[in-house]
Amino acid sequence: MSKDTVTVTDNASGKSVELPIRTGTHGPATIDIQSVYKELGYFTYDPGFTSTASCRSDITFIDGDQGILLYRGYPIEQLAEKSSFLEVSYLLMYGDLPTPKELDAFTTNITNHTMVNESLKDFFDGFHYNAHPMAMLTAVVSSLSAFYHDSIDINDPDSRELCAHRIIAKMPTIAGAAFKHLVGEPFVYPQNRLSYPANLLNMLFSRPSEKYEINPVAEKALDQLLILHADHEQNASTSTVRLAGSTGTNPFAAIASGCAALWGPAHGGANEAVLRMLEEIGDVSNVPQYIAKAKDKDDPFRLMGFGHRVYKNYDPRATIIRETCHEVLDALNMANDPQLELAVRLEEIALQDDYFVERKLYPNVDFYSGLIYKALGIPTQFFTVLFALGRTPGWISQWMELVEDNEQRIGRPRQLYTGAAKRDYIPLDQR
Ligand code: SDX
Repeated sequence: MSKDTVTVTDNASGKSVELPIRTGTHGPATIDIQSVYKELGYFTYDPGFTSTASCRSDITFIDGDQGILLYRGYPIEQLAEKSSFLEVSYLLMYGDLPTPKELDAFTTNITNHTMVNESLKDFFDGFHYNAHPMAMLTAVVSSLSAFYHDSIDINDPDSRELCAHRIIAKMPTIAGAAFKHLVGEPFVYPQNRLSYPANLLNMLFSRPSEKYEINPVAEKALDQLLILHADHEQNASTSTVRLAGSTGTNPFAAIASGCAALWGPAHGGANEAVLRMLEEIGDVSNVPQYIAKAKDKDDPFRLMGFGHRVYKNYDPRATIIRETCHEVLDALNMANDPQLELAVRLEEIALQDDYFVERKLYPNVDFYSGLIYKALGIPTQFFTVLFALGRTPGWISQWMELVEDNEQRIGRPRQLYTGAAKRDYIPLDQR
């Protein structure tokens, strides 16, 4: 028997099948199970896909035990310190760090696509004044299909690249429009003279009535947060983008499906849920009561911002964000923010509690990010929009990789059927 295979034997029938092992650059090798059903007549069962690889990918690697995150091989700590969000977007899309000339050209391309069709503004008038910004973002991103569907040939690499540039460029403009609808102020157009994060801040906070100065601390912190959210291998929203993309739908519709999946509080909606949890806890004296709730199996309450399907160590992004959080709040003279103190104490108490230690539940990317967004003046219900904005280059890069992967087919999982056995219809007058 070859060392490059695993043998599976069905004890009931005595039949065996040798399954090939496929090895990657880093991380666990995989057992190629594509022939199991044909050879043994069984489906495999893995709810939540805890140990199932849905694809092969060159983009991002996570080692959950070591707390490692690499974008195209580069450690997140180095990118967060030395790179920029647009440079990381280029890296995720094209696979290597750009030369200065390539970065200039990419930045120019993105800058020249920041405007949206003027009629897109009217979409926001249809939303009630208190519409959740993720509802607006998901709807309007999907509506981009209406403007570009006929010009998209997903089999043409240039068309795919243009879609990628358009979506990365237009997300801040759509986010800004959603924000202005939320606060009842006039929309602000993108300014090509500004950096990507500065443009976003300007579209969020500038008003016709006064001059708006970009705060460099906010600009740098926002750029780093976008880097930290840019990709994360096959998480729920990225898997949603891939599954939608596998049907051949246009990339704007696929990215909109990713926005919808990200919104959930178990996923990208957690950053909003963390702030609401801190508001509910209110004071450090209430922490033990909420830790007990989080541990109580009969209580649906979970410590938001804690735990992760893959990281069974500190989320490396949380480590970076925690440091940035202290820096930003210091720089903005908000170091004594009671919610920051509460978050720090909550983390300390949780990490001393056996329940969290035994289950390897550590703070994740969402635990501290909301505190920075709040310090930058962003309302809680807008946090997940910024997560979606950061994740966009990851989503579109993973979509491009899917379309270009000749192994990929339409995604169509099977199931373990546990419903009623076959039975005949009973006429109404006999029931
Ligand atoms: C993101 O996948 C990604 O990469 C996602 C993400 C990305 O960048 O795309 O990293 C972004 O989504 C981060 C996660 C944000 N979500 C939250 O912070 C919500 C709170 N966390 C939990 O809901 C939970 O930890 C998940 C959803 C993140 C992970 O859930 P799993 O992997 O399905 O873990 P589980 O539910 O099986 O939990 C294992 C045990 C259970 O207890 P037991 O049954 O063993 O007794 O840990 C407990 C859970 O009850 N548990 C928690 C907990 N998280 C897990 N208990 C209390 N509080 C928590 N937060």
